[in-house]
Amino acid sequence: MQIAFIGYGNVGAPLADQLQRLGHAVTLATSDPASDTVRKALARNPALALAAPADAVQQAEVVFLATPFQANAAAIGPLSNALAGKVLVDCSNPVGPGLTHGLNSVESGAERVQQLAPAARVVKAFSIYGYENLDAASRPAHAVKPAMLYCGDDSGAKATVGGLITALGWDAVDVGGLDQSLALEHMTLLWIRMVRAGGASPYLTWGALRQGVTA
Ligand SMILES: NC(=O)c1ccc[n+]([C@@H]2O[C@H](COP(=O)([O-])OP(=O)(O)OC[C@H]3O[C@@H](n4cnc5c(N)ncnc54)[C@H](OP(=O)(O)O)[C@@H]3O)[C@@H](O)[C@H]2O)c1
Repeated sequence: MQIAFIGYGNVGAPLADQLQRLGHAVTLATSDPASDTVRKALARNPALALAAPADAVQQAEVVFLATPFQANAAAIGPLSNALAGKVLVDCSNPVGPGLTHGLNSVESGAERVQQLAPAARVVKAFSIYGYENLDAASRPAHAVKPAMLYCGDDSGAKATVGGLITALGWDAVDVGGLDQSLALEHMTLLWIRMVRAGGASPYLTWGALRQGVTA
C-alpha cells in the first residue's frame, strides 16, 4: 500500500518505520528534505521515501496526520483537494492548558480535521497512548494484545486502518463513527494525566476483553 506521512516526529516516525518494514511504500511529505526531522526519520529507516506534500498525498492511499494539533490547518489546509477520497488517519490531539481538552470538549479535533479536508475519509487512530508504545519493540508480548481504539464514518477506510493496526501488533477495536473521537480524545487526556502528570508507566495500555465470545 502507498502510505504518506504528514508529521513524523515522536508519533509519525515509529509508525512510518514499522509500516515500511511491513512492506508498504512509505513516503514522508516534506518541503524541506534537509530538516532535522527528516534526517532523524531516515536515520531510523533509510528506506523511507521523500516527496513534496502534494505529491506524497497524491500518490498515497492512506495519509497519516501526526502534527501538533495547532499545526493541522497549515499542514493539511493547502492539501484539501489532494486529500479527497484518501484515508486520512488523524493521530493528533488537541490538548489545552492544565491537560484539558483543547477545544473545550465542544467538538473533537478529528472533526476539525474533517472540516479541513471535507472529502477525506478520516479515521482517528494511534492517538490514545504516548509515543513510547508506538514502537513495536517496546511492547512486551502479553497473552492479551494492547487495544488500539479507532473510529471513523467510512467503513472502508476503517477496514483499511483496522488492518494496519492489526498488522502492527495491536488488538484493533472499532469504537464507532467519527463522533466517538471526542471520547477517544478524553481517553488520551486520561492517559496523559495518569502518566505524564501522575507518574504511571508510559507503557500503560488498555486491553479489551470480550468475555463469552469464542471467536
Ligand atoms: N507525543 C505523544 O506521546 C503523542 C501520542 C499520541 C498522539 N500524539 C499527537 O500526535 C501529534 C504529533 O505529536 P509528536 O509528539 O509526534 O510531535 P513532534 O515530535 O513534535 O512531531 C511533529 C511533526 O509535525 C511536523 N510539523 C509541525 N508543523 C507542521 C506543519 N505546519 N506542516 C507539516 N508538518 C508539521 C514536524 O515537523 P518539523 O519538526 O520539521 O517541524 C514533525 O514532523 C500531536 O498532535 C500529538 O498531540 C502525541
